[in-house]
Amino acid sequence: IQRTFSIIKPDATKRNLTGAINAKIEAAGLRIIAQKRIRMTQAQAETFYGVHKDRPFFGELVEFMISEPVVVQVLEGENAIAKYRDVMGATNPEQADEGTIRKEFALSVGENSVHGSDAPETAAVEIAYFFSGLELVG
Ligand code: GTP
Ligand code: MG
Repeated sequence: IQRTFSIIKPDATKRNLTGAINAKIEAAGLRIIAQKRIRMTQAQAETFYGVHKDRPFFGELVEFMISEPVVVQVLEGENAIAKYRDVMGATNPEQADEGTIRKEFALSVGENSVHGSDAPETAAVEIAYFFSGLELVG
């Protein structure tokens, strides 16, 4: 059993798609073992996306992530990291497969509705950044 970290991003919370996205997560066999709606601070967004700080879209990405509330989540299941990335679909929704969250809901490569960890190490760091151990109810 594995855990991954997910964010339902501002474009999706703004359009009231939290439940629709959670339905896709659960239909894929992933269990939401922690979840909270927060307004990310600029410092949190800059740290969270620090790996992208030299990319041309960094400023835009941070502004987007603090523009509306987000829902941060921990998902648990067999092979949760890869499974969730499959459910999310490609970063650019134009390249996302049918049935994926991004194909169905994302607006653009920037406003792409969800984040999911890309490896066990990043999942552990990202989960710990937003949740205490006591908040994870597996
Ligand atoms: P995450 O799960 O959010 O990390 O998505 P990803 O792993 O599919 O993409 P990546 O880590 O390469 O990029 C992180 C995020 O930066 C993306 O999800 C987008 O929101 C944003 N992003 C990536 N490329 C672009 C871009 O060209 N323009 C803009 N505005 N945002 C981008
Ligand atoms: Mg990424």
